[in-house]
Amino acid sequence: MQRSIVNSYEIRNDFPIFKKKINGKDLIYLDNASTTQKPYSVINSITDFYSNYNSNIHRAVYQLAEEATNLYEQTRKKIASFINANQPEEIIFTRNTTESINLIAHSWARTNLKKDDVILITEIEHHSNIVPWQIICQERETKLEYVGIDENGFLDLEHMIELISSRRVKLVSLSHMSNVLGTIVPIEKIIRVAHEYGVPVIVDGAQSVPHMPMNVKNMDCDFLVFSAHKMLGPTGVGVFYAKREYLDNMKPFMAGGDMIKEVFKFHTNYNEVPYKFEAGTPNIADVVGFNAAIEYLEKIGMENIRKHEIYLTDYALESLASLQYITIYGPKDTKYRGGVISFNIADIHPHDLATIMNDHGIAIRSGHHCAQVLMERLDVPATSRASFYIYNTKEEIDKFVNAIKEAGRIFKI
Ligand SMILES: Cc1ncc(COP(=O)(O)O)c(C=O)c1O
Repeated sequence: MQRSIVNSYEIRNDFPIFKKKINGKDLIYLDNASTTQKPYSVINSITDFYSNYNSNIHRAVYQLAEEATNLYEQTRKKIASFINANQPEEIIFTRNTTESINLIAHSWARTNLKKDDVILITEIEHHSNIVPWQIICQERETKLEYVGIDENGFLDLEHMIELISSRRVKLVSLSHMSNVLGTIVPIEKIIRVAHEYGVPVIVDGAQSVPHMPMNVKNMDCDFLVFSAHKMLGPTGVGVFYAKREYLDNMKPFMAGGDMIKEVFKFHTNYNEVPYKFEAGTPNIADVVGFNAAIEYLEKIGMENIRKHEIYLTDYALESLASLQYITIYGPKDTKYRGGVISFNIADIHPHDLATIMNDHGIAIRSGHHCAQVLMERLDVPATSRASFYIYNTKEEIDKFVNAIKEAGRIFKI
């Protein structure tokens, strides 16, 4: 098993929440695919903003406003360099991944897609990469088609290529990493094929950007979306990245203050990119806090984070494999999967298992994980899910596996 050079024991000291006890036990937080915990540096930077810099941005000429604007814009620059975008202007702040996808649906798809064009997604998608396209299909009479998965959770690439080469597909939108199966899709290959047929690709990076190095230039995606809260940052901040040429040609998503250059009685000239897409007062303090989160991740190194999660996931998969009554979904090989393990034990309902886990201070997720199309494919109503991050330790995995064994004894399976 590959070792980890991330010292998660030390890292934990940076997160105040790990001082908390749940049912008298240390908190073991294994719901990182849903949202992550926040280090002091992020919490302090938000407090610091409100204590020392608070004002609105992009508007006033006084010093405080200039300082606040600089802090906000520094995060934009930080993100651009973090994902290796060509320019900071390619980074738009939204509320979350969901809003970023809706922005593309509203401002790109609605204008560029027409009747019978196909939007291609996959069976592993989160609802936020399904429902916006269903709405576009109702409005524009476009068609939604799905690429399926095999029994190991891998995309049917052959079918995908066949569909793209039919020339009916005009947009591909897919998750880089499944929030249920952990499957990491061969994104560069898919983008290469799509581009051969002139088809733009949206990469839902909600689960990949927080956990591995990301390079939009190498990947060559047209759009990338992700959420700050899944990578140590605050809630209420999302990122929408697009190649500049798309942004210049797209209509605004929301309309109002800040996205305008000049407003006349009956028409408006819009502001430059990226401001054209950031109407109204944004979530300034949390955007500033996001900078501290990225700095924290960069200090550890995204390559090291990926290795740490491979280490934990290999260890967890190996430990769980001895349990006769467990069904684990998704790829077996951590080369193709992130630190997310969905499973079911016998016919125990995931909510019941999660309740027993909570007695041990262990937070795991149970339910459909906003992926009901995938649940239907797996033929289950729900799964349990444990997902890891930099502060999780091997000992926590041991406690998690022991708690499952105890649940097995309680339910007499
Ligand atoms: C793959 C994927 N896409 C999109 C989302 C939506 O993220 P948000 O709730 O931050 O908009 C999630 C959240 O779990 C996700 O896992």
